[in-house]
Amino acid sequence: VTTRTALLRREGTARDGRAYLIRPGTPEDAEAMVALRDEIAAEGELIAAAPGETSVIEERLTIARLLSEGGLALTLEVEGEVAGQCMVRRGDDFASDRAEIAIAVRNSARGIGLGRALMETAIDWARAVRVARLVLGVFPSNARAIGLYRALGFTEDRVERPPASSVRRGRDLLFMSLQL
Ligand SMILES: CC(C)(COP(=O)(O)OP(=O)(O)OC[C@H]1O[C@@H](n2cnc3c(N)ncnc32)[C@H](O)[C@@H]1OP(=O)(O)O)[C@@H](O)C(=O)NCCC(=O)NCCS
Repeated sequence: VTTRTALLRREGTARDGRAYLIRPGTPEDAEAMVALRDEIAAEGELIAAAPGETSVIEERLTIARLLSEGGLALTLEVEGEVAGQCMVRRGDDFASDRAEIAIAVRNSARGIGLGRALMETAIDWARAVRVARLVLGVFPSNARAIGLYRALGFTEDRVERPPASSVRRGRDLLFMSLQL
């Protein structure tokens, strides 16, 4: 327990002087996560979600399932307020060496190194649990996210247009991955 906590708990001062904390996420974070995602979805064009799409109860179950499947939830706090999240979802079976990563940082906390800090924490965890490859999907217009992923060593695999009925709403999606 001590090791896990140390691996997944990072505290420091962001580039603008604000104090931050990265800690394991829990189902109790569901309300804050829904608020965060709704806020970012309302910015448009950044994430494949619409405001109000997920209820707090659904989110609570999603986090619980993610953790029970051996995945990772990280919660970012800035000055004691939830300001971001990062999740790593493993395949249907624990034997899968591939995992999907997703990240979101509140607008007011972007550009000060915290997205990178969240991703680095998740990548360290993924290496520790022997994930061989991290994969993600990003809208090709999301220059900031793509810049972060490239800076971390992710490479571009392919662009796909999912069916209009899917959660991705028929928009092109760039798939990137990092071999660990
Ligand atoms: C994408 C996101 C997580 C990045 O987090 P962030 O805290 O703003 O990023 P950081 O400040 O840690 O920047 C990390 C790196 O990203 C790159 N970057 C940042 N802003 C950039 C920009 N405007 N254009 C290109 N690259 C950029 C830089 O390489 C930077 O490297 P550095 O640490 O050497 O400065 C954040 O902007 C966000 O949550 N956006 C909305 C939700 C979203 O798009 N999620 C991803 C969906 S796939």
